[in-house]
Amino acid sequence: MGAPYRIAWLPGDGIGREVMEAARIVLDAVQLNAEYVDGDIGWEFWCREGDAFPQRTIDLLRTCDASMFGAITSKPVKAAEAELDAQFRGKGLVYRSPIVRMRQLFDLYICLRPCKAYPGNPLNFKEGIDLVVFRENTEDLYSGVEFHPVPQELRSVLAGISKPFAPFQHLAADEYAVSCKINTKKGSERIVRAAFEFARKNNRRKVTIVHKANVVRATDGLFLEEAKRVAKEYPAIAMDDANIDAICMWLLKNPFNYDVLVAPNLYGDIISDLCAQMVGGLGFGCSGNIGTNLAVFEPTHGSAPKYAGQYKVNPIATILAAKMMLEWLGETQKATALEQATAEVIREGKARTYDMGGNAKTLDVAQAVRSKL
Ligand code: IPM
Ligand code: MG
Repeated sequence: MGAPYRIAWLPGDGIGREVMEAARIVLDAVQLNAEYVDGDIGWEFWCREGDAFPQRTIDLLRTCDASMFGAITSKPVKAAEAELDAQFRGKGLVYRSPIVRMRQLFDLYICLRPCKAYPGNPLNFKEGIDLVVFRENTEDLYSGVEFHPVPQELRSVLAGISKPFAPFQHLAADEYAVSCKINTKKGSERIVRAAFEFARKNNRRKVTIVHKANVVRATDGLFLEEAKRVAKEYPAIAMDDANIDAICMWLLKNPFNYDVLVAPNLYGDIISDLCAQMVGGLGFGCSGNIGTNLAVFEPTHGSAPKYAGQYKVNPIATILAAKMMLEWLGETQKATALEQATAEVIREGKARTYDMGGNAKTLDVAQAVRSKL
């Protein structure tokens, strides 16, 4: 047996801890040869240290092959400041979502979100749905380049170069805010390429480009242009494109018209929740944040503080995230075995958490999956 994989284990807070316990049960059951290294991340580190994603955890990730991540609470600016330990208050510390920072810091540019309706799941919107979302994961409206109040320098520049800025230019600095949507050719090209490569390797018939290029002309226009250029390199795979608003309707109306979807960061965030809901809700939405040297796998759902400590939420999203990690590590057999065992538990319907109409606890579901392995 070769050296064990080094996996950063980041449960976070809230129900993140519980679903990660469940994931560990199934990873142990498939006997992944791994060393799991715990990392500090989450709300308690924001409150205590002024940083939800401390440097030591960043350093830890640099030494790991992959990571499993649970969930983290995040709150709006003022609420976050109020919960800080007194010594950090008033120092201008700003809470930024650790997962967003992690994606950018490690250039985890692919957010891969498969949404498959496992047969027999009572929460399926329709049986047979099998969508895969590729979401750009480092730029767009998530760039973090934001201003409130708006500095004088920015106002003067915009007033000088942008006609549409005229109605805003006399507002007081505090009366408006600016968030920059920044999209690059490189960022757009590589996410679209990842989607087409996935389609090619997995015999998928179509890739749909999601945008709003008719209105957001500069950034989404660039994304769409790059996407069309890349698509030409894959003549065997069909390509179409759709506006973000329209596709929300069409996806509901006929999910079988779609296959692989690729989108800039924010639209990808939105459609991945929509697609997750069609296959059972956030209890089934799993996610991979994938870069060149590191990949971090997580359930798409948040930390659900109101359920924390009750061991009642559905761990399947996190179990499927573990399956994605196995795939990424090249442990294909283990990944397939875990997916089949999970599908079997869903189909059988004996171990169901409350969202599925049952009364199984989080870890009961993990044990049921284990018993199928
Ligand atoms: C997601 C989440 C995150 C995001 C939040 C928690 C910052 O909604 O992973 O989809 O917006 O990317
Ligand atoms: Mg989201």
